[in-house]
Amino acid sequence: MEFIAPGIYKISLGIPENITPVSLRRNGIEAKGLERLPEAELPFSVEKIGFQVTARGCTVELPLANEEGLYGFGLQLKSFNQRGLKKVLRTNSDPVADTGDSHAPVPFYCSTAGYGVLVDTARNAAFYCGTHDRQGGISKSSEESNAIGANPSELYAMREHKGQRAVAVDIPAAKGVDLYLFCGPNIIHAVQRYNLFSGGGCLPPMWGLGVWYRIWGKANQAQAEELALAMRQAKMPCDVFGLEPGWHSHSYSCSYQWNKERFPDPDKMVSRLNGLDFKVNLWEHAFTHPSAPFHDDMKPYSGDYEVWGGLVPDFSMVEVQNLFGGYHKEQFVQKGIAGFKLDECDSSDYCSSPWSFPDCSIFPSGMDGEQMHNALGTLYQHTLQDVFHRVNRRTLSQCRSSHAIAASLPFVLYSDLYDHKDFIRGVVNSGFSGLLWSPEVRQCNSVEELIRRVQSVVFSAQTLVNAWMIPNPPWLQVDLDKNMNGEFLDNAAEVEAMCRRLFQLRMSLLPYLYSAFSEYRFDGIPPFRALVMDYPEDLATHGIDDEYMMGRHILVAPVIAGETGRRIYLPKGNWYCYWTNERYTGGQWYQLNVPLEQIPLFVQENSLLPLANPVECITDETCFSLYVRCYGTEPCDFTLFEDDMTTYDYEQGSYNTLRLARDGSGYSVTHMGNDPARRYEVAGWDMIP
Ligand code: GAL
Repeated sequence: MEFIAPGIYKISLGIPENITPVSLRRNGIEAKGLERLPEAELPFSVEKIGFQVTARGCTVELPLANEEGLYGFGLQLKSFNQRGLKKVLRTNSDPVADTGDSHAPVPFYCSTAGYGVLVDTARNAAFYCGTHDRQGGISKSSEESNAIGANPSELYAMREHKGQRAVAVDIPAAKGVDLYLFCGPNIIHAVQRYNLFSGGGCLPPMWGLGVWYRIWGKANQAQAEELALAMRQAKMPCDVFGLEPGWHSHSYSCSYQWNKERFPDPDKMVSRLNGLDFKVNLWEHAFTHPSAPFHDDMKPYSGDYEVWGGLVPDFSMVEVQNLFGGYHKEQFVQKGIAGFKLDECDSSDYCSSPWSFPDCSIFPSGMDGEQMHNALGTLYQHTLQDVFHRVNRRTLSQCRSSHAIAASLPFVLYSDLYDHKDFIRGVVNSGFSGLLWSPEVRQCNSVEELIRRVQSVVFSAQTLVNAWMIPNPPWLQVDLDKNMNGEFLDNAAEVEAMCRRLFQLRMSLLPYLYSAFSEYRFDGIPPFRALVMDYPEDLATHGIDDEYMMGRHILVAPVIAGETGRRIYLPKGNWYCYWTNERYTGGQWYQLNVPLEQIPLFVQENSLLPLANPVECITDETCFSLYVRCYGTEPCDFTLFEDDMTTYDYEQGSYNTLRLARDGSGYSVTHMGNDPARRYEVAGWDMIP
C-alpha cells in the first residue's frame, strides 16, 4: 500500500495495464484542499482485499459490511443505492436497462461507512455489489429469510443483501489493477478526496451558470440572429447561445468548417451575438470528415475504424492534441467562440447507424476500442480544455461522455434520453463521481411538463434549453409538430412569463452557486449532492434519490408533471420553505401540495442566503446587488467568492472572499483579498426568524 496524499492510498495488484484513467490524467492533485480535511482511517484492513488473475482477466474482492450503502459508478440514471446490484461499467449512450451502461460510467464507488474506492481501469469492469456469497465465504447474510413470496417480484425482494459480503470486481483482459482508496471519515469526505485527487472540481466562468439556449439544428445565420434579438427583446435571461449541427459544411462526420450557405458571415454573426452579450457555443463531435483541414495530417494518429466516414482521433496522442486543439484555437476560440458541445463521444450499439467503433479497434497509442470507448470523452474534453487554458479563458462546455478523474473538467453531461425522474436521479447521482449533469429541457407534452422540467434545469449544474428539434422556443409552443408549423400556444405570453420568472430565479442564485462551485474547486465539495452525503447518520436519507442539496444550504425536491404534491423528507434540524418562509421541523416526512410555479425548496435554519437582483446575462461589468436572507436567529455566515469571473488568474491567487455574517450584534461584511474585482454589493438584509 502506497501513501499518495492525506487520506488517499494506492494498492497495486498483479501487473496493472499501462492505459488507465490515472495514466491518462493531465492534471495534478489539489493538495491544499486535502490538507484541510479531517484525518481518517480506512474502515477495513487492506488484508481483507482479495485478488486473483484468471483466464478472463482479473478479479478484486473488497469487503462490504452489514448495512453499508454504496453509491456512485458515474451517471447512473436508473438506480441509486447500488448495494445488491451488478453494474457492468460500459460507455453507452442509450442504456436500455439498469445494467451499468452509461454516458459516463465511473469505476468509483463510495460507502456510507465513509470511504471510496477507485478501480483504475478503462475496461468494461463488472462490479458485483454484495450480490454474491462465496462458498463458505466472507460470512453468510445475517438476516437470511426463509420466506416464500406470493409472486416473483415479492419472492426475490425477500432475498436481502444484508450481512457481511463483498464487492467483487471482474476486470476483463487486465492481469492486474491499481486500487485507490479514499478515506472519510464520512462519505462526503471520501468524495471530496476523490475530487481533489482529480485536480479539484471545475470552476465555471460566471456566465456558464446562467441560462443556455441551443437553437434549431437547421437554423441559418439570419434565423439565429433574429432569435437572439427576440430573446433580448423578450427580456429572457440567457447567457449562452448554442449552434447545432447545421453550422458545419459537413456534420456527420464533422468538417469543423462553416456552412457558407447557411452562415455566409460567421465572424460578423459571432461578433453581433457577442455584442448582445451572448457567449457562442458550437456543436461538434470528434469523428473527422475528409474535408476537415487537418484530416490527412491526423490519419496516422487515428483508429483503424472510421465512424460515419470520419477518422476517430486518438486524443491520447500529443500530435492529435496539437492538430485538433491547435485548429480549434485558431479557427474558433481566438475568434470569440466560448465553448463546444462534444457530441457522440459515447457510443451506441442499438441503432442502425451506430456512432461506434468495435471494441477490437486498434489505436496508434496502443489503446484498444474498449479502452477508447471509455476514455474518449475525457480525452476529448482535455484536448479542448487545454486550448482554453492556454488562452487564459475559462469555458463551461458540454460533453456526452465522461469517465474517471473528470471533476476538474468544465464539461456538463447531457443525453437524448428524456425520462424526467431518471434525469433528476442523474442530478443526485452525478455528485458521487465528480460529474456535472444537466436534465436538459426539450419539447414537452404539456405546459405543465415544460414548467416542471424548466424548474429542474434551473436547479441543476446547467440551465439548458436544448431546442435543437424546434425552430421556436418551447415556451411559445411545447408541441413539436405545432412548433415546426409556427403555431403558438394561446397563452404563449403567460407561459413565457412563467419561464422568465424561473430563469430570473436562477440568475438571482448565481452568486450563491458560484460560491458553491468555488468549494467544488478548492475543497472538492460537489455543488449538487444526495442528502446521504450531508446527513449520513440519518438512515432515511440513504434511499432518497429525488431530493438533493444545491450548495451549502438549499434542499431541492423537484416535481414531475402529473404530480400536484409530493412526499418530502427534511433531514434533522429546522428548515424554511423558500416560498412561504414557513418553518418545518426536520427529521420527518411531509406530504405537501405544490403549486405549478413553485418547485419545493427548503433553506436550512441558521443560514444566510445571498440573493441577487437578477441580471439578464453576465457582462465584464456585472456587479450583483445582493439581499441577504437570514434564516433563523443563531449566528451564521456565508462566504462569497469574487474574481474576474472568466480567467484562470484565481489559480495565482487573484480573488477575494466576502464573508457575510450575522450575530447578536448585527450584520457584517468582511472583504478579504487584493483583487480589484468588485462583483457584489450588499443592498440589504432580510430577517426570517
Ligand atoms: C444529438 C444530441 C442532441 C443534438 C443532436 C443534433 O446527438 O444529443 O442534443 O445535438 O445530436 O443532431
